[in-house]
Amino acid sequence: MPNLPALEITDLRKTYDNGVEALKGVSLRVEPGDFYALLGPNGAGKSTLIGITSSLVNKSAGEVKVFGVDLHANRSEAMRLVGLVPQEINFNMFEQPLDILVNYAGFYGIPRAEALVRAEEELKKAQLWDKARKMSRTLSGGMKRRLMIARAMMTRPKLLILDEPTAGVDIEIRRGMWKTLKEVNAAGTTVILTTHYLEEAESLCRNLAIIDKGRIIEQGPMKTLLAKLDVEGFLLDIDGTLPATLPTIEGATLLAEDAHTLDIEMPREMDLNRVFAALAAANIRVRSMRTKSNRLEELFVRLTGQPEQAA
Ligand SMILES: Nc1ncnc2c1ncn2[C@@H]1O[C@H](COP(=O)(O)OP(=O)(O)OP(=O)(O)O)[C@@H](O)[C@H]1O
Ligand SMILES: [Mg+2]
Repeated sequence: MPNLPALEITDLRKTYDNGVEALKGVSLRVEPGDFYALLGPNGAGKSTLIGITSSLVNKSAGEVKVFGVDLHANRSEAMRLVGLVPQEINFNMFEQPLDILVNYAGFYGIPRAEALVRAEEELKKAQLWDKARKMSRTLSGGMKRRLMIARAMMTRPKLLILDEPTAGVDIEIRRGMWKTLKEVNAAGTTVILTTHYLEEAESLCRNLAIIDKGRIIEQGPMKTLLAKLDVEGFLLDIDGTLPATLPTIEGATLLAEDAHTLDIEMPREMDLNRVFAALAAANIRVRSMRTKSNRLEELFVRLTGQPEQAA
């Protein structure tokens, strides 16, 4: 049992009634205890994949197993193992957090006495215990998001799936949620999330899949994928104005971003000193330097041909 994958998807296909082929044969495997990211541009098929895994959407073909339980053959057993945090806040704003949690547990057949115990535990973990009896409408955006996670945790899922849990929330709330999710994962729950924030994937997840137009185009450990990037980009702020003709530095590509900013791309192993020496020789004085883009962003653009945007 301990070695069964948390999620094993084999050749999953989904064609919607309108003929859209949202998944064109996706296979992936998420190990128990993992923190896994699903990245992809709009319309890639991420929500479809998550919808199928959490039994909200019917697959067209393929196989999905959650901790070895086949979703098709044993739907209710598989559902008990999965907790879902949908993208949109979908609890009743006029209910109180405690009731939201207890009622949710009720749908899953958890007796009320047990549900009350769990609700207190989850609300405390989510730092919402003092809000247990407030109308949830009065919670802040970040609190509402944490309540969504607390609710999904009521059934003690072994696999927690979140569809863009931090879309559109400010950086402070996002950081708070990262902390919550890290704690959930550290306590043994396998976590899968989709995100539009590459920084989020990079700081939280150990493994990832990049999905595009219904196909997985890259998957593996975050570190391995990032190591594939052999090119690094920098923006250099220049003292004064750049000359009309830029110097040639073998192996590097130089581009004037504007009169005072030099865009430079070079192999990762290239010696920066050589670059600075060549610039100095051309009378270009560098005042400051920053990395051009998030490395995952670079990988993403290279694979899908489009920049990922904050949704
Ligand atoms: N219920 C539906 N009926 C018909 N087509 C759908 C339905 N849901 C999604 N699609 C289509 O399936 C494709 C994949 O959509 P999906 O929502 O899975 O993408 P996504 O990766 O979650 O995108 P986003 O990042 O925008 O949320 C899209 O072309 C979409 O228009
Ligand atoms: Mg989606």
